[in-house]
Amino acid sequence: MQDAKEEIKSRLAVEDVIGQYVELKRAGRNLKGHSPWGVDKTPSFMVSPEKGIWHDFSANKGGDIFTFVMEVEGISFKEAIEKLAGQAGVDLSKYRGGDPMVAKRKVRAREALELATRYYQARLVKNREVCEYVFYKRNLDRNTVKEFRIGYSPASGRAMLTALEKRGFSDQELDDAGLLSRFKTDLFRDRMMVPFIDTTGNVIGFTARVIKDGEPKYLNTPETLLFNKSRFIFGLAQAKESIRRNNYVVIVEGNMDVISSHQAGVKEAVATSGTAMTEQHLKALSNLTPDVRLAYDGDAAGVKATERAIMLAGDLGINLAVISNYHGAKDPDELIQKDPALWRAAVEEKVPAIDWLLSKYEENLDLRLAPDKKQYSDVALKLLGYVKDEVEKASYEAKVAKKLGVGVDVLRRKGARLNTKLEQASAKRYLKKPKTEVGAASGLAKIENSLLALKIFGGITKTKIPFDAPEDEVKLSELEMIFNKDHEGIESPDYEKEAAELMQRYSKEFKKQRIAELNTKLAELSDESDEYEAVLREIADLQKT
Ligand code: UTP
Ligand code: MN
Repeated sequence: MQDAKEEIKSRLAVEDVIGQYVELKRAGRNLKGHSPWGVDKTPSFMVSPEKGIWHDFSANKGGDIFTFVMEVEGISFKEAIEKLAGQAGVDLSKYRGGDPMVAKRKVRAREALELATRYYQARLVKNREVCEYVFYKRNLDRNTVKEFRIGYSPASGRAMLTALEKRGFSDQELDDAGLLSRFKTDLFRDRMMVPFIDTTGNVIGFTARVIKDGEPKYLNTPETLLFNKSRFIFGLAQAKESIRRNNYVVIVEGNMDVISSHQAGVKEAVATSGTAMTEQHLKALSNLTPDVRLAYDGDAAGVKATERAIMLAGDLGINLAVISNYHGAKDPDELIQKDPALWRAAVEEKVPAIDWLLSKYEENLDLRLAPDKKQYSDVALKLLGYVKDEVEKASYEAKVAKKLGVGVDVLRRKGARLNTKLEQASAKRYLKKPKTEVGAASGLAKIENSLLALKIFGGITKTKIPFDAPEDEVKLSELEMIFNKDHEGIESPDYEKEAAELMQRYSKEFKKQRIAELNTKLAELSDESDEYEAVLREIADLQKT
């Protein structure tokens, strides 16, 4: 892949790739523009055509064309390289040398899955009981069944496998496709088969529903070379045109809800394996539209999933809304069975997710009672911690304060006390590896970059800078850019003095962040534990120095 990367880089100018997303103006040897992620008032995004790199000084990130496309489109490295190879006219297949075996296995797995899909489709019409289930009980019409390629897997143990073996597929290949059970028989038996179709139209797996009763209700393809649950979005292949055209997406819980919704005319519906939505899912959808409507069940799991989505949505510039008027039905599918028009209307009746959650929090509380007020303000303030826009936040604060019968100032004071702790705690819990850390952490990373740049390009000898120079060429060029930018327009910079000052700021910031972290930890510990004592002591020590 390294060679492919080099060839793509040699054919594409960094300014042309980035110019598709950011308006760039020449500034000396570099080009400048506004950050595609941020709200920088002055242009803080720089591109170096000579070095083929970019750096965003407001978001504090940078790299080459591949990392740029990954970040801006929210796609994987593999997807970025495929996209750019397309633009550069580079044929990637000749570079797949790195792992020709895996590439070949994927091709075979795709072929197997395509044949299996056709096999299941052909079996559907031959079985009366299944037709009854699909066409009458689930109320799907012929078009829908065709569009979603719904089929039926026979009950016998090896029917599909035998058919595929006849076409030359080995056990290994069928296993790669996720079609084999532990006992090397058909994994899917006597089930309604719904293929997972990716956005290029390939079948990458199945979800299979029992027709009568049985466990599990749905059996899904395990993670394979092709199927990745935390990336795959069910229905996106069929929905993406409508999502683009009408500029919104509806996320439902069940795959069958997606199918029913499409049949009912709401073709913007997709599902992300139940309520297990990931940042990758949300990023991919936010590239299509900023209007994301959640149609989860109104139960506890739905509330949790909505809260989670709000946290994930943080930096993506998404307007999250909730669709909840199901007229007593348990999910969109049930509502559609009642009357498709009710579902179409429900989709238009969206409520901002924050408003919806705030009213959910209230449901089991009696806000005339002080302890309930405390509880309500705890969860509400935690939620408001995720609202970025000041005006929006202020308006929610006013609303919550009014509900509690306290002044906004009281609420804000409590919020200030809670939020630093809680935001960090939940950010840690929910976003395992935040790409761009906000607030304190990003300040720290910024200083670290400047220090490293000084060490490498400023020839610092007196001040001890405890970071090692990266070996990565791209990162080095980026640091050079940071170095130049840091000293732009300064007559005769005193690098040593600057390094000493920066080191001081660094340890101060570091301490601040460490104390915040420890406070977060403290909140989670029982105050009788030994660790509690130790953490308290560390905080005290840090505050002394
Ligand atoms: P639901 O049980 O809510 O699905 O699970 P549903 O769409 O209402 O099912 P029907 O209408 O009874 O057919 C929602 C999602 O959770 C996952 C599936 O992705 C399903 O679409 N799920 C559920 C499983 O993976 N396995 C299960 O056994 C159940
Ligand atoms: Mn259902």
